[in-house]
Amino acid sequence: MLSITHLQKRFGEQVAVDDVSFEVRSGETVGLLGPNGAGKTTTLAMMSGISKPDGGSVSFQGQRIHQDANALKKRVGLVPQDLALFEELSAWANLELFGGLYGLSGAALARRAEDALSLVGLDNRRRDRVKEFSGGMKRRLNIAAALLHNPELILLDEPTVGVDPQSRNAIFENLEELKRRGKTLVYTTHYMEEAERLCDRIVIIDHGKVLADDTVRGLYRRLPASQSVALDLEPPADENLLAGLAAMPGISAVLATAGGVRFDTVDFGAQLARALEHIAGGGARVTSVKTGHSSLEDVFIALTGHALRDGPLADPP
Ligand SMILES: Nc1ncnc2c1ncn2[C@@H]1O[C@H](COP(=O)(O)OP(=O)(O)OP(=O)(O)O)[C@@H](O)[C@H]1O
Ligand SMILES: [Mg+2]
Repeated sequence: MLSITHLQKRFGEQVAVDDVSFEVRSGETVGLLGPNGAGKTTTLAMMSGISKPDGGSVSFQGQRIHQDANALKKRVGLVPQDLALFEELSAWANLELFGGLYGLSGAALARRAEDALSLVGLDNRRRDRVKEFSGGMKRRLNIAAALLHNPELILLDEPTVGVDPQSRNAIFENLEELKRRGKTLVYTTHYMEEAERLCDRIVIIDHGKVLADDTVRGLYRRLPASQSVALDLEPPADENLLAGLAAMPGISAVLATAGGVRFDTVDFGAQLARALEHIAGGGARVTSVKTGHSSLEDVFIALTGHALRDGPLADPP
């Protein structure tokens, strides 16, 4: 549906987007993931025809845009990172205004506004002024405004920033409904967990460059170890047991814990069985087994050498 090839954008000396290429196929949800300043918003601006690239091109259904950016705008909905709403107006009046910008009026506009409001779950708040809305409700109205012209492709720039867990969930349900309706979505975020829940494919960018373009499973496969194992043991792990585990191929990051031992495995099925055999051979009894996936956050760190967000790695709710 959308092809981006060798996209470049500079702001003075600074290269914000540096040779970015990827595809968005019809019906697919693509995550555009990167830390602050990675170039996500700048890329979306060029994908939606708002901003002209310094190099490279964007094609929509085989046709190069920027010669005809207006035709594109009719078929693409952009949910901007900064809320674009009139606080003093009601939700409904905001939608009337945005609908007008897309050339909608009368019954057609009312029908679309009705549908968009009900999709984001704000039908019963249509008469209320936006300034009385919570942050999450504003975010949802911001999404509704981008849906009025019934676009095939929807570009969302961090639509969950600054909202509480409940609103985040509501927004996710709205987006999942759009997916079910067959819409193509590009979802920008710096939350790996969000991209993992929603996206068929994830494009990771950092410093304006694409570092990976893969499915969630494909990204996990890039990690040397994909599963962590924590065992409780009686008696607790001794030096021999730990050294034996550490020497096994495919097992890494062996650590003694309060109750036993933890380690990472590459091929969980094969290595857990061998580890349990080794432990039983040493005379210890396993009283509990816990396993967990490495996270996509680990993939990001492996690719870039730094965390996706500044500061401690806080999980989104
Ligand atoms: N209008 C502008 N003028 C000058 N520099 C800009 C402009 N817009 C973006 N930049 C710079 O380009 C780089 C990429 O910015 P961009 O907004 O695309 O990042 P982002 O990935 O969307 O970040 P965030 O997660 O913070 O929204 C940044 O270094 C930014 O400072
Ligand atoms: Mg941005």
